[in-house]
Amino acid sequence: MIQKRRIGIIGAGHVGVAAAYAIFLRGLASEIVLIDKDGDRADGEAMDLTHGQAFGEGVRVTSGDYGDLANAQVVIITAGVAQQPGESRLALLNRNVAVFEEIVGQLDRHAPQAVLIIASNPVDILTHVTQTLSRRDPHRIIGTGTLLDTARFRALLGQHYGVDARSVHAYILGEHGDSEVPLWSSASIGGVRLAGQTVMGIPFDHAGMQTLFEAVRDAAYAIIARKGYTNTAIGTAILRLVAAILDDRKSVLPVSRRVTGEYGLEKVCLSIPSVIGRNGVEGAILPPLDAEEDRRLRASAAVIARGLADISL
Ligand code: LAC
Repeated sequence: MIQKRRIGIIGAGHVGVAAAYAIFLRGLASEIVLIDKDGDRADGEAMDLTHGQAFGEGVRVTSGDYGDLANAQVVIITAGVAQQPGESRLALLNRNVAVFEEIVGQLDRHAPQAVLIIASNPVDILTHVTQTLSRRDPHRIIGTGTLLDTARFRALLGQHYGVDARSVHAYILGEHGDSEVPLWSSASIGGVRLAGQTVMGIPFDHAGMQTLFEAVRDAAYAIIARKGYTNTAIGTAILRLVAAILDDRKSVLPVSRRVTGEYGLEKVCLSIPSVIGRNGVEGAILPPLDAEEDRRLRASAAVIARGLADISL
């Protein structure tokens, strides 16, 4: 018998609905269960998505409560307060830790088998908090981390060089935040390194590339200043992560996960290239870092460690 693929989404706000819509259009699940403390909001979003079924891929969308998550393979947590214009992700910390303490207890009770995807911010610390609070294996708790920043990096590099973003391979690692790190030393297009090379007739211009990286790093601030929130790109990043888990793809993706010695780092969650399959984080494939990248990744880990020190669990 074909196993039903049930996905729970905690938080029917901008990000949760963007993720639901992406999964709905792609037909990645049999059922999506939307849960929100505002039940009417979850109901309305489920109704609205359901009305597109005639043109979709047959995904059933319902609103419910934690008890409806039995046998869910994946649960996505998007709940919590979001950044206000000019506000850093770290500033949301204590308000969202309190939200997570309630959510994690419910998920351990009703969906202990699910792989959890954390999208709420500050995502690296909330991934760590969830791993601390939950009884499930930490490898089954993944933060979206710099998967979104890497997508932005690939998109802007694709625009810069005039190529498909899917042919650009370049990582942003570390904190999903102001201390994130671009890996220029391994960035490539079609297998050709960018650093020091002329690609598509465009020479590698350090000043211009620094400006491009800053646009990636500060993208959320720029978008929030214009539309008040971000949602669609993070929704597609969550879609990519859910596909890797549900289809057991063994995809290599930069996601936030506990480091246990990789790059000499430990005791924090941050984004490094990780092998993602049905059991969550199943390994890591680590590109070499140059001295500057190594220094910046350690500095990024220190920022997260300082944020962790500010909370009491
Ligand atoms: C952003 C949010 C998801 O970077 O942190 O858009």
